[in-house]
Amino acid sequence: MTLIRIEDEKWELIKEVPIETWKTLLKQLEAAEVEIPNACRTGMCAACMCYIEKWAEHVVKNLKWEPAFPLWEDEVMTCIAGVEETDEIIILQTMS
Ligand code: FES
Repeated sequence: MTLIRIEDEKWELIKEVPIETWKTLLKQLEAAEVEIPNACRTGMCAACMCYIEKWAEHVVKNLKWEPAFPLWEDEVMTCIAGVEETDEIIILQTMS
């Protein structure tokens, strides 16, 4: 398990969620009752995009390894992304 801290647009804590590694973030965040906007759930629309504030090196941006919406270094689409095992707390900011 890896811990993810989800913050809102003002960088205020929404929730800290333990995440299973190598499984998509969006489903796990929804299961933890964290609301992330989404639409296609295939990595093509960017509705589920979050900013990565800390520990981007532990974020696996595309578990499907298929073409997806292009992103900047600090952006991640939670519907196709996962995380590696780490003791660090990965910090994401929602765009909503
Ligand atoms: S929901 Fe469309 S890219 Fe994630």
